[in-house]
Amino acid sequence: MANSQRKILVTSALPYANGPIHLGHMLEYIQTDIWSRFQKLRGHECHYICADDAHGTPIMLKAQQMGIAPEEMIAQVQKEHEKDFADFNIQFDNFHSTHSEENRELASEIYLKLRDAGYIKTKTISQLYDPEKSMFLPDRFVKGTCPKCKSEDQYGDNCDNCGATYSTTDLINPYSAVSGATPVMKDSEHFFFDLPAFSDMLKEWINSGSLQQEMANKLSEWFEQGLQQWDISRDSPYFGFEIPDAPGKFFYVWLDAPIGYMGSFKNLCNKRDDLNFDDFWSKDSTAEVYHFIGKDIVYFHSLFWPAMLEGAGLRKPTSVYAHGYVTVNGAKMSKSKGTFIKARTYLDNLDPEYLRYYYAAKLSSKIDDLDLNLEDFAQRVNSDLVGKLVNLASRTAGFISKRFDGKLANIADKSLSESFIAKQETIANLYETREFGKAMREIMALADVANAYVADAAPWQLIKDEAKQEEAHQVCSNALNLFRILVTYLKPVLPKLAADVEAFLQMELTWNNLDVDLAGHEIAKFKALMQRIEMKSIEAIIEASTENLQVTPIKAPKVEDVQTELEKEPLAAEISFDDFAKIDLRIALISKAEHIEKANKLLRLELDLGGETKQVFAGIKSAYAPEDLVGKHTVMVANLAPRKMKFGESEGMVLAAGPGGKDIWILEPHAGAKPGMRVM
Ligand code: MSP
Ligand code: ZN
Repeated sequence: MANSQRKILVTSALPYANGPIHLGHMLEYIQTDIWSRFQKLRGHECHYICADDAHGTPIMLKAQQMGIAPEEMIAQVQKEHEKDFADFNIQFDNFHSTHSEENRELASEIYLKLRDAGYIKTKTISQLYDPEKSMFLPDRFVKGTCPKCKSEDQYGDNCDNCGATYSTTDLINPYSAVSGATPVMKDSEHFFFDLPAFSDMLKEWINSGSLQQEMANKLSEWFEQGLQQWDISRDSPYFGFEIPDAPGKFFYVWLDAPIGYMGSFKNLCNKRDDLNFDDFWSKDSTAEVYHFIGKDIVYFHSLFWPAMLEGAGLRKPTSVYAHGYVTVNGAKMSKSKGTFIKARTYLDNLDPEYLRYYYAAKLSSKIDDLDLNLEDFAQRVNSDLVGKLVNLASRTAGFISKRFDGKLANIADKSLSESFIAKQETIANLYETREFGKAMREIMALADVANAYVADAAPWQLIKDEAKQEEAHQVCSNALNLFRILVTYLKPVLPKLAADVEAFLQMELTWNNLDVDLAGHEIAKFKALMQRIEMKSIEAIIEASTENLQVTPIKAPKVEDVQTELEKEPLAAEISFDDFAKIDLRIALISKAEHIEKANKLLRLELDLGGETKQVFAGIKSAYAPEDLVGKHTVMVANLAPRKMKFGESEGMVLAAGPGGKDIWILEPHAGAKPGMRVM
């Protein structure tokens, strides 16, 4: 290899642990994964690190809503995230959580270094406080009437209706989105990180040339506006790490989130003898560190984070690479249009490598947004991957197996393959500089050349002519060799296809063996490598992603409102028959019913489905005593995914109706219906 081995640490931003991964997120993980796989393919030491970002108010409240501990929720979400990433062939060297011991220690250590160096100040500030929930309210959790256009239910800092931005305290009739209570102002002491003290260092770092131009421009703008002291503490209740020597005060989630990159790497070092944490993070480290992020979190990564590292006596990242936002069919991802597509919904319908290729084909080193146009996506994949790439092998491999004992010829004219190999530095350079779109165009231009060669030589004609067997052998062998070079170039983007091709060609594809001589090499029987995308798969994705968004009152309704709210409840939007058919409704016998200590609304039911028993927590305590329920038949949703609740796992739902309070009635089927029968 021309260049000597580099030591590289790469990260993607840490996804929040309160929601599923969607195709917007996937752009980042795919981009980083391609880059990290490329570095490994070139023989460098490269570690790709990530974690879930587990702290903060939204996560705390979401867990409360679900009636489980935040630790339990983030563990569940982490499992789902890891599965989504693995199924998209994202090859992390480590995936951890910011809610970890490693991270707690590192966050405390870094904070104490900053404090002892005089970079932490305290100041009493006044903020909106929810007197019912006894908690301070982040802007997002305060709503009210816009001071400008008077439209109701607007967020604390800006109006969706007229676009005005304002201070939360200017809202008319503000209310807490958590409890509905009217917030009050309350004083509390906060800790601040002295960002302005790092102005000179940051200016120098930004102009050192390692950042993208657009990013450097953005940062200069921020400098002109002046850097501010950064509020790094939050008061209890908060899900996070308590600040050393400050009981009841917690690190703001964005303080320990980037430290989570280190925490995850530390966790990896603890598992591996050959890795040393300080080699990568100490001030004199010669390793390279890169953060791949979205454009929305540039401020945190290029101002706060390098300043924190500098203040704590650690090295700064080599560079921070920001990408733009994914839009779908030209617009922001939307739940009502079915374009807010979860990673899992995609995976249920399509091969992950299609999306990896499409994103690669559209990515550049710039911060521009990237449109996932679903029609263009299908066309592009079908034409490039199926039509050009895989077709090369599918048109030639069969002859090698059938006519030539599966063995490749000694290629007489190597000029084509040599011209392909001559492109290796151009292509490597495009990968290195994150110009993946240009790299894909180079590779596809070569695929065009290879296809033209095969079309011209027409081995399917040659093979019919006894005198032209050797020529046919040459052409097919040459085509497969070109195919091998192309797939090697594409290996960072299409790892699964590359693995299948490795099995088919019976050899490892590496950048080092691009010019291997395959004379006499035996290949395996060709199996179909990739199918075309059918529009019906895309339609299925859109359908599964379309949520009917009802206008639900965010404001917690007062008790006397509940009845009218329920009576007014509009009919839900239409669903397809297929959606309906997914719901498995069964007759169930209530074999057991009991009170749960400390539960206000729930009863624990055991439901007999004619052999199988399921446990369900039902919110019908206000209407039924347990002894009235035992022995009754009712209707349940039997295939609802089990849900962990505060008191245990609920394995379904019983159907009931009524305005609420005493007036809730479970559905009771005719006596002829027996437990386990399907309700249709
Ligand atoms: N938890 C923070 C990051 C902390 S890093 C120390 C966070 N999480 S996130 O889940 O909201 O986003 C994770 C990454 O996905 C971010 O880099 C974000 O920019 C990116 N994206 C989220 N939605 C996206 C699109 N629609 N398009 C492209 N990237 C997107 O931010
Ligand atoms: Zn307004």
